[in-house]
Amino acid sequence: MQTLTQAQTPRTPTQENRGQENDLSLRVRALDPTLDLEAEITRLKREMNAVILAHYYQDADIQDLADHVGDSLALAQAAAATDADVIVFCGVHFMAETAKILSPNKLVLLPDLDAGCSLADRCPADEYGEWLKQYPGHTVINYINSSAAVKALSDIIVTSSNAAAIVAQLPPETPIVFGPDRHLGRWVEKQTGREMVLWPGFCIVHEQFSARKLAGLRAQYPQASLIAHPECEEAVLDQADFIGSTLALLKYVGTHPEQTQFIVATEVGILHQMRQSRPDAEFLCSPPNSGCDCASCPYMRLNTLEKLYLAMRDRRPEITVDESTRVRALKPVQRMLDMSKGLSQVQQKGD
Ligand code: 13P
Ligand code: SF4
Repeated sequence: MQTLTQAQTPRTPTQENRGQENDLSLRVRALDPTLDLEAEITRLKREMNAVILAHYYQDADIQDLADHVGDSLALAQAAAATDADVIVFCGVHFMAETAKILSPNKLVLLPDLDAGCSLADRCPADEYGEWLKQYPGHTVINYINSSAAVKALSDIIVTSSNAAAIVAQLPPETPIVFGPDRHLGRWVEKQTGREMVLWPGFCIVHEQFSARKLAGLRAQYPQASLIAHPECEEAVLDQADFIGSTLALLKYVGTHPEQTQFIVATEVGILHQMRQSRPDAEFLCSPPNSGCDCASCPYMRLNTLEKLYLAMRDRRPEITVDESTRVRALKPVQRMLDMSKGLSQVQQKGD
């Protein structure tokens, strides 16, 4: 495995858009507190012919209102398939951008444009493009957690639910560059037995789980199943009974009725669906390195019911992608969708 060691400068791909949104907090404060937001959102959805897509890391009230709740792959598939005029994306910027790449003629709204992602922000397209020059002839595989400009530099996009299966479909002699999540990349290497060049990105939420404290919790709850997202560090994944995307983790919980305790190493938003699926089970959060409640994604949680309502009422903030970038980014996204057809989204550790 090769890795890059130079420091990355965090950047936010949404910075250029922020000017138009500096009134968002004012608009939230101006809202009538007696407004029935759920009823208003449902009314607007009908009037606008909109579909609301929500990631599992959104607040429970947003998940409950959404037409589709899913992981990154399921939501990209839903965005590609919808015949709605408006896609309201309750997730982060790269997800809404992917919806726009797939559906350029639809209005795509994101409740808060500052909902970025540490992986996408730490992989700026100019630096990534320079870095790729070291690896001519390599197939460039990128995690969907990347900007449209980085997707445009890629051959194939993957998500956590299809990354290993897609890499496994490439001829064994194909040299591969994988970005921007080093932990997902390392896990795919283990799953497939393929060596890849890894960009050294990471998710600030998944990287903060403490392997040492986790071992202590496991000793305390020896019957509990540890289920983990592949964005976690290797020392956490090595302890896991099952590794998968958020949807795969949810399916695992639903299909293992004999297990009544689960230690969950991913963003806590998924617990809402897990508790609905298994009201009889106990869910314990994987302990973080520090004392904070940092298993909550600070970007995802910028979206609120108030901002969702305002986005629909005011038809902004709108996600735009310049056409030349969009056309180049569409190819690897479409390739992912094509290569994912018929794939089981659930991957058992060691499969
Ligand atoms: P999945 O939706 O593929 O599980 O990825 C989790 C994540 O971190 C999304 O940003
Ligand atoms: Fe990005 Fe991590 Fe938040 Fe997902 S959980 S949006 S990877 S920062």
